[in-house]
Amino acid sequence: MTLLEVKNLKKVYTTRFSGNHVQALTDVSFSVEEGEYVAIMGESGSGKTTLLNILAALDKPTSGEVLLQGKDIVAISEKEISAFRRQNLGFVFQDFNLLDTFSVQDNIFLPLVLSGKAYREMSKRLKPLAENLRISDILAKFPYEVSGGQKQRAAVARALITNPKLVLADEPTGALDSRASDDLLEIFSKINQEGQTILMVTHSTKAASHAGRVLFIKDGAVFHQLYKGSLSNEAMYQKISDTLNIIATGGGRNE
Ligand SMILES: Nc1ncnc2c1ncn2[C@@H]1O[C@H](COP(=O)(O)OP(=O)(O)O)[C@@H](O)[C@H]1O
Ligand SMILES: [Mg+2]
Repeated sequence: MTLLEVKNLKKVYTTRFSGNHVQALTDVSFSVEEGEYVAIMGESGSGKTTLLNILAALDKPTSGEVLLQGKDIVAISEKEISAFRRQNLGFVFQDFNLLDTFSVQDNIFLPLVLSGKAYREMSKRLKPLAENLRISDILAKFPYEVSGGQKQRAAVARALITNPKLVLADEPTGALDSRASDDLLEIFSKINQEGQTILMVTHSTKAASHAGRVLFIKDGAVFHQLYKGSLSNEAMYQKISDTLNIIATGGGRNE
């Protein structure tokens, strides 16, 4: 079943003082099936963050539609948007976005607190998740007391505790050393195998090689896509590298 449909998204930024127009997204269309793990790649300035912000309902497109299970998130009112985000989406960011004055556990509970869940219910949900993500022993600590890898695993727990339909990740390995990156990628693969749909923006060929499909964005539009199928991570890595080379050297769509 189709979970996410993105139709003809266009985003033009108008700078306030000069009145200049920047076309960040020209015409982006794609869809994501339930249970897919999709990576989005593209050079700096190609519109990845703009796209992710629109999918996260943090920004509105100039035109186009974003349907999550058929519901147009562009049309949701400001009043309903926070609840919609909490009920449907999980976020993992490059810089973790944990609150330093909250313990790891309270950070993870935050989306549930905001939706008014009882403590018992929150604890019940956290236990297996914390074990799965190997953070059971750091729940009482504060973010500044734990490693980058542990912080990101806590951020993943925070994203998953609401059972979101879709996890959106923006460069989730960007601030991690290579061991913690590998670890995070394994976790993403595992939660995907357990059924979680993931959409991840990344610069990292290695990270993208774990996904089931890679979309390449160029000049504000989807330029190409690769399916992993039965390829190994290594073979997928090579295919992604080749595609990035074609994009960087200005190759055409049909090469
Ligand atoms: N708030 C903004 N105001 C004006 N221009 C912007 C804004 N955000 C992004 N842009 C421009 O839109 C284009 C795409 O940016 P972005 O989505 O951040 O790309 P990426 O994440 O792929 O690096 C770039 O040319 C960028 O300078
Ligand atoms: Mg960006």
